[in-house]
Amino acid sequence: MGWKDYELLDSGEFEKLERFGDYILIRPEPKALWKKSIPATEWSRMAHTRFTTGAGFGKAGKEDSGTWHKLKRMDEQWPVEYRKGSLRFSMRMGLTSFKHVGIFPEQAPNWDFIYNEVKRIKTGMGGAPKVLNLFAYTGAASLAAKCAGADVTHLDSVRQVVTWAKGNMEMSGLDNIRWVIEDALKFVKREAKRGNLYQGIIMDPPAYGHGPDGEKWKLDELLYEFLAEVNTIVDKKRSFVVLNLYSNGYSAVLAETLVNTSFGLKKDENGKSHTLTFGELMLKDKFEKALPLSVFVRLSR
Ligand SMILES: C[S@@+](CC[C@H](N)C(=O)[O-])C[C@H]1O[C@@H](n2cnc3c(N)ncnc32)[C@H](O)[C@@H]1O
Repeated sequence: MGWKDYELLDSGEFEKLERFGDYILIRPEPKALWKKSIPATEWSRMAHTRFTTGAGFGKAGKEDSGTWHKLKRMDEQWPVEYRKGSLRFSMRMGLTSFKHVGIFPEQAPNWDFIYNEVKRIKTGMGGAPKVLNLFAYTGAASLAAKCAGADVTHLDSVRQVVTWAKGNMEMSGLDNIRWVIEDALKFVKREAKRGNLYQGIIMDPPAYGHGPDGEKWKLDELLYEFLAEVNTIVDKKRSFVVLNLYSNGYSAVLAETLVNTSFGLKKDENGKSHTLTFGELMLKDKFEKALPLSVFVRLSR
């Protein structure tokens, strides 16, 4: 993966054992249906902290909120670095009350794709491509785009995560990202009205969410409409789009059909070349057990 700061050490019995930089964490993983390869007692000996939900240790719980139990001394916040050739950025890790730690390591192939696409489009247009990252969280994808020389707009509805993303930009030695705290759908509709176009759009929408003014986001009800709006602000001449989905059990085929239909790709493009790829993002543990974590669609033209 080109990432010395992250390893999935083992998985099984509804948990995963991961190393993020200096620390080893045990987190719930409802998809790890198999047996652990390293004995459970060894997991507890290795880990600095373990997150449990109301479901308890090793249970197939669906809840995300819970508690961290410290097993060894560790900092509440610490840095990790992603490096792949000249793509480099740093992220601050933090123990949140929702088992998340500020980064989704399985997304690394998306960061590599974004970086390469920005470079390609930049060369083609002879200027900085405009990239919009929607549901952008702590900003790894924004940093990948910025690192490649894009003019980046980072949007999330939660002020605290935007502040976190800003810190990550500064820690990475990058600058000049445009920060927007807004409802994603509302912003896209406004950009469409203004006639603004982007050469790159990145989307990682959750199953449920809220805009800052209480706007309700519900993936199954709004995703198709949302994508159709996004299509109106994508530069049809030269651009890339990444859609990542990790909830509702949606498949990669479903995600591809959604992009094809909402973007009208098959009927509108009249022989113009575009490449649409789709698949699953996964992490392999040290014992080659592959853990699927999300699905993606990538459009390149
Ligand atoms: C799981 S995160 C995406 C992860 C991110 N792409 C990454 O790889 O680091 C989903 C994000 O969507 C944001 N969100 C939820 N509802 C929203 C809305 N209506 N408009 C904009 N952002 C929203 C949340 O604050 C959260 O940061």
